[in-house]
Amino acid sequence: MAQSDLFGEAAPPSPGAEVPTPAQQAATLRSQLHEHAHRYYVLDEPSIPDAEYDRLFLALQTLEETYPELRTPDSPTQRVLGKVLDGFTPVRHVVPMLSIRTETDTEATGAQAFDARVRRELELTEDAPAIEYAAELKFDGLAINLRYEQGVLVQAATRGDGETGEDVTQNIRTIGQIPLRLKGGDLPAVLEVRGEVYMRRDDFEALNERQREHGDKTFVNPRNAAAGAVRQLDPTIAARRPLSFFAYGLGETQGWAMPTTHSGVLDALAAFGLPVSAERTVARGADGLVAFHRAIGARRDSLPFDIDGVVYKVNSLALQARLGFVTREPRWAVAHKYPAQEQLTQVEGIDIQVGRTGKLTPVARLKPVFVGGVTVTNATLHNLFELRRKRVRVGDTVIVRRAGDVIPEVVGVVAGERPAYVPNFRMPGHCPVCGSDVVRERGEVDHRCSGGLFCAAQRKQALLHFAQRRAMDIEGLGDKLVDQLVDGGLVRTLPELYKLGLMKLAALDRMAEKSAQNLVDALEKSKHTTLPRFLFGLGIRHVGEATAKDLARHFGGIDRIMDASVEQLLAVRDVGPVVAHSIRTFFDQAHNREVVEQLRACGVTWPEHEPAADPASLPFTGLTFVLTGTLPTLSRDEAKALIEAAGGKVAGSVSKKTSYVVAGTEAGSKLEKAQSLNVPILDEGGLQALLEQASATQS
Ligand code: IVH
Repeated sequence: MAQSDLFGEAAPPSPGAEVPTPAQQAATLRSQLHEHAHRYYVLDEPSIPDAEYDRLFLALQTLEETYPELRTPDSPTQRVLGKVLDGFTPVRHVVPMLSIRTETDTEATGAQAFDARVRRELELTEDAPAIEYAAELKFDGLAINLRYEQGVLVQAATRGDGETGEDVTQNIRTIGQIPLRLKGGDLPAVLEVRGEVYMRRDDFEALNERQREHGDKTFVNPRNAAAGAVRQLDPTIAARRPLSFFAYGLGETQGWAMPTTHSGVLDALAAFGLPVSAERTVARGADGLVAFHRAIGARRDSLPFDIDGVVYKVNSLALQARLGFVTREPRWAVAHKYPAQEQLTQVEGIDIQVGRTGKLTPVARLKPVFVGGVTVTNATLHNLFELRRKRVRVGDTVIVRRAGDVIPEVVGVVAGERPAYVPNFRMPGHCPVCGSDVVRERGEVDHRCSGGLFCAAQRKQALLHFAQRRAMDIEGLGDKLVDQLVDGGLVRTLPELYKLGLMKLAALDRMAEKSAQNLVDALEKSKHTTLPRFLFGLGIRHVGEATAKDLARHFGGIDRIMDASVEQLLAVRDVGPVVAHSIRTFFDQAHNREVVEQLRACGVTWPEHEPAADPASLPFTGLTFVLTGTLPTLSRDEAKALIEAAGGKVAGSVSKKTSYVVAGTEAGSKLEKAQSLNVPILDEGGLQALLEQASATQS
């Protein structure tokens, strides 16, 4: 009796044989694939990159094609993976949800092989005209079936095993992009829309950043994050995960005059209000497909979401019907992949990088690996907790991911490949750059160097931060020059910048006298600045441009800010305890106050004013405004600034708590909502009048 469990059967022993028989190879592959699939889908802990899984899968598929008798009913090739979780109601798909065959070949051969197959199946002669294809993106997310009855979304289900999926309607309803009701007049009695739920890269990064801040588990990649969210039993959690959707096909339909082409179907879906990617085309013949594959390949990194390839579909639905299916794959469609954005490599060491704010980041030094189009030699491990959570140690084989412009990162260790004993990584007690103590604030995950402006690592970054356009705007003071100045020992602190003379600068390597003069001029010019720019330029943790502006408006002068207690700081709008403490700690350091004094002594100046009035006494304090439509003279930002300067708040949506709605032309649903809630409505003139009236009664 063959023993079978969750991980599939074990490979039979190979008595004396050096090379495993095809049967043994197939058994080994099956058991490996079962194991990896279990880790991936059930435990949510992938152990190998997708490309590696695909390779194993392909090897098994090839083996089974050569030796059909080796095909077992439980072979991973015989089913579409996925498991109905406890807690979701099963949904039977009237039209099964299939998968597509994958070509990984080079752009030309992959497309040509598909086109040749289609032509052969259709028994076309060589001189028959080129076939028309719909070419689109292969989104990297989770397949979903949306069922609309009389235009209303009644059910959403995952693919599951292709025959039966899970009812995830509640979670899918939280995706704002998915219409709950279709647009248009002539709606089908039944329309099942198939598409991909995915997560944009920026949303994914932000989500992981949030997870990291809360010390919660981060997600391996956008697809995992999306799939995890859709299969959350608690819809309120799904609602907090930023998901997106693209439609790419159909399931069951009833009572619909269906278009005759796939591209026509997608146009119709878009007209119904469903999100359909604009990155698609109708291509002719293999050449058209190759061109599409190439064009998208060149732009892959700049797309806002991950794709793992493109999909080619025979455009005519009549031809699709003629081509039909082989087992679980249509003959009329193929996925053509791009090189993987995840690869395996080895960790050769773990280094520490010190950032501008002194944050210590552990970075894995890697055996060079080509991934996502570049050779990667370093990948971030974020912080000690991430590193521990992922259990990364020197010598480990790890999955490295690089997608888009995102910094390469180690997403996980390949289980069971650790060589002998390796001690656990520890954070150094002293900064590797300046030797100062390393500290970690309570409740924070990051370790930091306490060397502040003394630490060479922070010194360079501090200078760059100070000089940037949004701060002191010292033109010409960029990376290279800062390196030269700091490495040459010419500048150690911010004030020393202003003591650089023409002589010293012109003596620098590769510095022409003209450029030296330009820099001297730029430094001179930068001395006349504003308080918000200066404050922002100091590089106080948690003090960005907006906070710097708030602080400047509130206190009016630097001395009042330097002397403000935490309580006084907390009175500033949008300043919470973390920011308040950070500011207080910064100015508690004698050397930081010295820097400010010295900068002033060097002639850095800005206008100051009296402290702002107590916010409680401003005319619009306690009032909430909602802006909608286009105002005749004020831009939205200007109107917002006016209201906020008067102490009011501007909100994004209308509720019972809204004090006034300010409406311009083309005001939409917000105006209607205001009317229905009896919220007073003002035009621009009305807003101005209210402002004047309010300030008049004030004074
Ligand atoms: S068509 C009968 N089109 O790829 C054809 N699938 O193996 C059914 N996918 O998980 C699929 N982008 O969710 C199709 N533009 C696209 C797609 C796409 C991504 C996914 C699909 C499924 C897998 C197919």
